[in-house]
Amino acid sequence: MKTLFVLFLLFLMVNSWAQINTIIPKPIKVHECGTGEFLISEKIPILYDAPLELSANFFKQYVAEKYQLSLPVKMVGSKKNLKSSIHLSLKSDAPEGHYLLMIDKNGVQITGSESGVFYGVQSLIQLLPTSEPTKKRELLVPYMNIADAPRFVYRGLMLDVSRHFFPVEFVKKCIDIAAYHKMNYFHLHLTDDQGWRIEIKKYPKLNGIGSWRNGTMIGQWPGTGNDSIRHGGFYTQGQIRDLVAYAQKRYITIVPEIEMPGHSLAALAAYPNLGCTGGPYQVKESWGITDDVYCAGNDSVFTFLQGIIDEVIDIFPSKYIHIGGDECRKDRWKACPKCQKRIKTEHLKDEHELQSYFVTRMEKYINSKGRTIIGWDEILEGGIAPNAVVMSWRGDGTQGLEGALRAKHPVIFTPSYGFYLDYPQTSHEDSLAANWGGVTSVKKSYLIEPITDSVKSEDLRLILGAQTNIWTEYMSNPAKVEYMMLPRLSAISEVLWSPKEARNWDDFKNRMEFQYQRYQWWGYAYNPVPADNE
Ligand code: ACM
Ligand code: ZN
Repeated sequence: MKTLFVLFLLFLMVNSWAQINTIIPKPIKVHECGTGEFLISEKIPILYDAPLELSANFFKQYVAEKYQLSLPVKMVGSKKNLKSSIHLSLKSDAPEGHYLLMIDKNGVQITGSESGVFYGVQSLIQLLPTSEPTKKRELLVPYMNIADAPRFVYRGLMLDVSRHFFPVEFVKKCIDIAAYHKMNYFHLHLTDDQGWRIEIKKYPKLNGIGSWRNGTMIGQWPGTGNDSIRHGGFYTQGQIRDLVAYAQKRYITIVPEIEMPGHSLAALAAYPNLGCTGGPYQVKESWGITDDVYCAGNDSVFTFLQGIIDEVIDIFPSKYIHIGGDECRKDRWKACPKCQKRIKTEHLKDEHELQSYFVTRMEKYINSKGRTIIGWDEILEGGIAPNAVVMSWRGDGTQGLEGALRAKHPVIFTPSYGFYLDYPQTSHEDSLAANWGGVTSVKKSYLIEPITDSVKSEDLRLILGAQTNIWTEYMSNPAKVEYMMLPRLSAISEVLWSPKEARNWDDFKNRMEFQYQRYQWWGYAYNPVPADNE
């Protein structure tokens, strides 16, 4: 009898361990408190402090949608009866993103900073059943205490909507997926050689011409032909305002990227006078980079870009405006009299310093509007603009990171080897994937560490965080994006959120079993790779 009792206790412990440890990204501290479960039924109200209405409604909507459970939602008034409720409370002195989640016989309590309570709700969601419960309109959540906070202040996901254009509804789905993973920045790569994707009222040809291409390369780069199918589109400013608001309700800031001086062929196709040769140019139909870039010697280019930035700043409240800066070939500048004249009059050493002049001039304008620029790590070449944040992407990301730290500039770590989700997930990937970076398995992504041994303690404050990027050359439809994003985003979210000491591949793999159930339950397309595939 005694043995049976001990076995029963063990069963309860293992059972609640399994439930508790399903959360991804892994919380800092999880403490089991008893072996009971609290029953959420339609009698249980969500009570919230005034600033937490978004989180309260988010949870209400989630359980209504997924479990057909309708919970009453009420702001906490002067008469506080908090028993048998889901109570969301604001802790005014809690640092950004921090939260406590407590579940006991009295109910569920989440307390923290405003965004922290939202993250607490995301954790609570992961404690709910991963399929529709057998008993309708009742959900059991295990008793426990969680104390949690993000490791980095910048936790980003980038979506390239230039190489392929995606409907607004799908962009919202990506924002949802980012929110479930406790990410707080969504970087939209809005312009590139292959298409201009944001409405600019001052320069309508950007959309009339620059948003469309007459065909797309077939197969893997360098390609086997062209499909001759017109592809394109752009988001109206109204649609973008709607996206910004949608993301804000999930505590996510959208960072817009307007590429310059390279990756600008779509704009040059619309306004050929802005290139060194004067064109004609065509929106690019194949992948890879191009010689044609904005002319750095032509003042009209700066007037044009400033006009675009004015509209971008009006739509996006983000502190950060991404100006690209990557992969700008210098061949046209070397042969262009205007660019060469600029080098002379500005006393620049070479074309790298000309790029630095270009970026610094745009930075000055953007700073004058109260915003900060982010640029890919090439902005370090020829001298970095005084206030720029570096996104370190080339190779394993360490060179750009170390260069930024040497210059005492803030940096976001986004290594192509590890965090680029256009790279194949296995060596036997059966769909097209980028062939310029090798395999990026879930495990490889999971084991990436942004803070390398060489980082000095006084520079730690400059590492804002990290970001994963989805370049879409080989993703022509939303399902393919999801398939390339998941499960690697789950792995990366843990690098961005959880403490370094908590990183444990075997433990992550076990928790992923539950995550796969959730993916299915949420209807996501994902690559069911064997977790230890490489
Ligand atoms: C990049 O991947 N060209 C930033
Ligand atoms: Zn030029």
